[in-house]
Amino acid sequence: MDKISMKTDIYLGQGTLDRLMEWRDRRIFVVTDPFMIKSGMINMLFERLDDSNEQYIFSKIVPDPPIEVVTEGVETLGEFQADLIIAIGGGSAIDAAKAMKLFAYKILNLQEIQFVAIPTTSGTGSEVTSFSVISDKEKNIKYPLVDDHMLPQEAILDPELVKSVPDFITADTGMDVLTHAIEAFVSIKANDISDALAEKAMKLVFKYLPRAYQNGNDLEAREKMHNASCLAGMAFNITSLGLNHGIAHVAGAKFKIPHGRMNSLLLPYVIEFNADYKPGYGKEESNKTAARYAELSKSIGLSAPNAKSGVRSLVQAIKQLQKQLQMPQTLRECGVEEDLFETMKVEIAEGALQDGCTATNPRVPAASDIVEILNKMYRT
Ligand SMILES: NC(=O)c1ccc[n+]([C@@H]2O[C@H](COP(=O)([O-])OP(=O)(O)OC[C@H]3O[C@@H](n4cnc5c(N)ncnc54)[C@H](O)[C@@H]3O)[C@@H](O)[C@H]2O)c1
Ligand SMILES: [Fe+2]
Repeated sequence: MDKISMKTDIYLGQGTLDRLMEWRDRRIFVVTDPFMIKSGMINMLFERLDDSNEQYIFSKIVPDPPIEVVTEGVETLGEFQADLIIAIGGGSAIDAAKAMKLFAYKILNLQEIQFVAIPTTSGTGSEVTSFSVISDKEKNIKYPLVDDHMLPQEAILDPELVKSVPDFITADTGMDVLTHAIEAFVSIKANDISDALAEKAMKLVFKYLPRAYQNGNDLEAREKMHNASCLAGMAFNITSLGLNHGIAHVAGAKFKIPHGRMNSLLLPYVIEFNADYKPGYGKEESNKTAARYAELSKSIGLSAPNAKSGVRSLVQAIKQLQKQLQMPQTLRECGVEEDLFETMKVEIAEGALQDGCTATNPRVPAASDIVEILNKMYRT
């Protein structure tokens, strides 16, 4: 039985940061990263908070937030006796705040904390999902957490906040959006509602990501990408993700590659794997997935006279987009040494099989399939 709940109120468009003016008499725990402080962008938040509020700023968030930072955040949150968390930053700040809220509830029994998420990148869709990804930096492992308690009450999508994102981060995070949309569309849990969200997100990415990359001040492109990120988040909150994210979580942590870039490197090869016919993998199933990819191709105006050529068109369009965004197309180009890659690949394949995202992939992979995908991604 499918059930879809939309718990988060979404304020979208230019000027929506003004929504913050409506919070009064709160003890606000602000979770952010050092960039927001150094750049002065955090003042956009403080200018809008009423004097009746008390604030504590926790700004120790780093990309791929580690467990220790989350633990420190939980303690501080408890001591400060916050009744509202505002997470402002990229996916890392929002994910860290979500994990803090969850552990404050489980460990400190803090039940009534409200939560507002304000993304400053257009990538993870974390502002509307029950997912959070936390890292163990010593073991180089990422742990995806899934719990509805982490869903924000409110998300504020103001494109003004993304104008300062540098082009290469725009590219990485934009490809994360595309991967969310495509994985949601072919997930074994996909339905008509998630399809609509994923398809629209994908259309927006192909149309507006190159523009946002070329000119960060193109506010229309920024706004569309911010909405695309949220739409893709809503889609995969229904369907979960797939093998692409399963591998990216493990490989990204091992090779220290940003999340969106890792997804982008894998995407063509995971699509080819999912759509491929191999002995032992039912032809009908593979054709069904291939036909789904072809549907996506058609929706962005690519040639797809049959499923096979639809898949080929989609893969080519993704590679073309990567070139437009001047992104690496192999892991080798990212500077990963061949010896390290060879030592790690079986461990990565085994880790990816255990990752929760892999469970909703349309094709069940064996470790050897994942090694093959990794080999192609390393040097194709
Ligand atoms: N919760 C989910 O559903 C979900 C989904 C996908 C990925 N993730 C996780 O999210 C994290 C990645 O998040 P991300 O891709 O948004 O990157 P990020 O939050 O790690 O930020 C990347 C960099 O961009 C900078 N930055 C952020 N906003 C900026 C701005 N407006 N201007 C200039 N610089 C800015 C940050 O300071 C940081 O250096 C990873 O840990 C990933 O595993 C979570
Ligand atoms: Fe992602």
